[in-house]
Amino acid sequence: MNAAKPQVVILGPGMITQLQVLPSIYHLQRQGVVGPITICGTRAKSLQALHEDAGHKRAFPGQSFTPVPDYRKKEPDGPDAYKKVLEQLPPRQCVVVALPDQMHYPAIKEVLRHEQHVLTVKPFVLTHKEAVELEGIAREKGLLIGVEYHKRFDDRALIARRRYREGQFGEFKIGQAHLIEKHYYMHSNFQTWCTCENSDAFTYIGCHYVDLVAFVTGLKPVSVSVYSKPQPWPNGKLGYLWTDARVLWENGACLNVINGFGYPDEGPGGNTQGIVLHTDGKDANGLIWHSDQFRGVKHAALKKGGDAGDTAFMETNPDYFQLVWRGGDGLEPVGYGFRSIEYIVKAICRVERESAGLAAKDALAKRRELLAQYDREGLMATPANSAYNELVIEAGRLSITNGAKEAVIEYGKEPGVRLN
Ligand SMILES: NC(=O)c1ccc[n+]([C@@H]2O[C@H](COP(=O)([O-])OP(=O)(O)OC[C@H]3O[C@@H](n4cnc5c(N)ncnc54)[C@H](O)[C@@H]3O)[C@@H](O)[C@H]2O)c1
Repeated sequence: MNAAKPQVVILGPGMITQLQVLPSIYHLQRQGVVGPITICGTRAKSLQALHEDAGHKRAFPGQSFTPVPDYRKKEPDGPDAYKKVLEQLPPRQCVVVALPDQMHYPAIKEVLRHEQHVLTVKPFVLTHKEAVELEGIAREKGLLIGVEYHKRFDDRALIARRRYREGQFGEFKIGQAHLIEKHYYMHSNFQTWCTCENSDAFTYIGCHYVDLVAFVTGLKPVSVSVYSKPQPWPNGKLGYLWTDARVLWENGACLNVINGFGYPDEGPGGNTQGIVLHTDGKDANGLIWHSDQFRGVKHAALKKGGDAGDTAFMETNPDYFQLVWRGGDGLEPVGYGFRSIEYIVKAICRVERESAGLAAKDALAKRRELLAQYDREGLMATPANSAYNELVIEAGRLSITNGAKEAVIEYGKEPGVRLN
């Protein structure tokens, strides 16, 4: 039906939308890849802040989006505004899900019910059963679901993957990863949802490195144990703010992942993160060592910026997401944060383009054929090719809520997790 530019509807006007999703979509709109943008939230006031964002106005002059609820029309606040938008959306546009983790499942189900393609921020959903259900609905209807694990689009990950798959490293044996967000997250909206009953530091951010190890090595995770002592957010709600996870892999390898909300605000980067994997060949050992925070850039400004976590001395990551001037008006997003969103949006456009003009039955068959190709290729995370992530999250949640007992992942006909 729609070989033209898809409309984009973004659910959730929060931090990731402000930082990465919306600037990427704006740039794709400027390039003529996508059409009008709508953003749905729960509070007109937070949409107003995003709508009037001075950084976006500078980078994307003349571009804007329709906020729902619309503060200019004094529309009422409420959690169901997005459902009305979906009802009016023509089928097979692009809906971006950037809601809190535990809302992904019901929201994506609703989005699929309205025949829409989906780009969702990670984690896709929180249980394997939910993932299988949504994957089945999407396959049936020939709708694409791309899960935005942007580390996959970092060139260093792609280089490591190619070398690993060519056998240059031997086999992964033991490794460590860490990703600690800045302290100011303690005072953000996170405290309203990243609480013990919904999520934890490992589920929220550790999944990136688990996915990356699977992406590079092709190995499957088979067991998870996660230690954390609940601690209060500033609003008094309890959260698993610091987590230590041990993930075992099908070949006996072990990955230790530490996560938390507490890298010093005065630390010179957006967070601290990296990964070290030790590998074994027949007569020699290999090593994959990525400093994912400090990438060789040191800048010292005369004074620090006004946003939370800004520092005068900066170890800027030039690779994730930056806005740079490349001629003309405004700024362009560069980095793997942009490339990842671009890839998924263009995949949706391709599925529509290559099935356009066919009879309904043939168009559905064509869309399914392309979805299967994306599943097989495995560059973009899809529900079918990254279901281990939901099993790890499920196992991690089972473990963390049971005093860090080991939770085993069982694959086979009906994959699932159980305490050992
Ligand atoms: N590195 C990454 O890949 C990365 C980084 C940050 C966040 N994320 C993911 O992005 C998602 C959102 O995280 P965030 O940091 O933007 O959180 P956030 O709390 O800043 O934003 C969530 C937004 O969703 C809105 N929302 C809640 N219920 C809604 C509803 N019914 N309808 C519309 N909007 C609703 C909230 O008002 C808020 O604006 C999470 O799943 C998170 O894990 C991924």
